[in-house]
Amino acid sequence: MLNNKSILITGGTGSLGKELTKTILKKWPNVSRLVIYSRDEQKQFQMAQEFPESEYPAIRYFIGDVRDLERLKRAFNGIDYVIHAAAMKHVHIAEYNPDECVKTNIGGAENVIKACLSSGVTKVVALSTDKACAPINLYGATKLTSDKLFIAANNIKGKQDIKFSVVRYGNVMGSNGSVIPFFMKKREEGVLPITDVNMTRFNISLQGGVDMVLHALDTAWGGELFVPKIPSYRILDVAQAIAPNCEHRVVGIRPGEKVHEEMITSSDSFTTYDLGKYYVILPQVTNWNLEDYKKHFNAKIVPQGFSYTSGENTEWETVASMREQIKEHLYPDFEPK
Ligand SMILES: NC(=O)c1ccc[n+]([C@@H]2O[C@H](COP(=O)([O-])OP(=O)(O)OC[C@H]3O[C@@H](n4cnc5c(N)ncnc54)[C@H](OP(=O)(O)O)[C@@H]3O)[C@@H](O)[C@H]2O)c1
Repeated sequence: MLNNKSILITGGTGSLGKELTKTILKKWPNVSRLVIYSRDEQKQFQMAQEFPESEYPAIRYFIGDVRDLERLKRAFNGIDYVIHAAAMKHVHIAEYNPDECVKTNIGGAENVIKACLSSGVTKVVALSTDKACAPINLYGATKLTSDKLFIAANNIKGKQDIKFSVVRYGNVMGSNGSVIPFFMKKREEGVLPITDVNMTRFNISLQGGVDMVLHALDTAWGGELFVPKIPSYRILDVAQAIAPNCEHRVVGIRPGEKVHEEMITSSDSFTTYDLGKYYVILPQVTNWNLEDYKKHFNAKIVPQGFSYTSGENTEWETVASMREQIKEHLYPDFEPK
């Protein structure tokens, strides 16, 4: 799928960007070009130690901000596929610095779309988050706006051969700033801060996120919002998996946080289809035939009123499954303590 193609990842030095890079270089050794686009030269310098240009001749490190349209246009020259992963993603930082979050997550999305439309890019996948579903914080609201911009971009492309789609998923296990590394650190102090004892979250591995993005890149017809079917965990099970001997201190839910996350609301159910391994929310306006789509993907409309929330999931992680995954994906020497 990606051999002889040129790909650019905005936010390529982030958790998802690096895992995507690893997977792409391994699975498609004949990729033409893989451009890592981000701001911080230090992160790029470190990533270049792991993926040096001498060993991976396709890789390029390109310093740039998604707020800078001219720079994006320059970077997109000759690019076939764009994966838009750059974002401000910390809920409380976005609450405190709202205009910065708007500039990156909304202004950045607009710029990426404009730069794609003014170059030869043919496929674009933008990253969303469960927090964009019925958002209660600014981060989620900016990502929902970004989702809408990418989906609507299919309506303004004219005759251009380009497809925009979105991938939405929940907490990525072990990603920058997530709960598992936080608990691993806190257990050394003997006390784990718990925001709410009832809290649940969706759980996906970085590789699971990468697989969904690559699947979207491969199969999107344009305008889909892909939602993988993934299990949930209870925060108390994560605490038990990591630190069974620690005390818990309930610190209360933080501003802008939900007790349970949602990926598909009941209002989305009218345009949500079950495709087996994942759901897809389809746009109201398409430039392809819905009946053809349903037949092609064997897509079944979900029951009216269906919603997909972490608190009412049918699949659950257990203490044992969390321990296995922490060992497999994050800390090979992990032992509960
Ligand atoms: N991690 C999760 O649990 C999770 C869950 C659901 C969805 N997502 C979504 O998945 C995407 C990737 O998340 P992640 O966990 O990989 O994030 P991350 O580790 O925080 O990485 C963010 C990346 O974006 C870059 N970036 C930030 N602002 C930028 C700007 N203005 N211009 C250019 N690059 C910029 C960062 O590099 P510089 O700072 O050097 O520019 C970094 O490479 C995001 O869109 C996020 O909303 C994440």
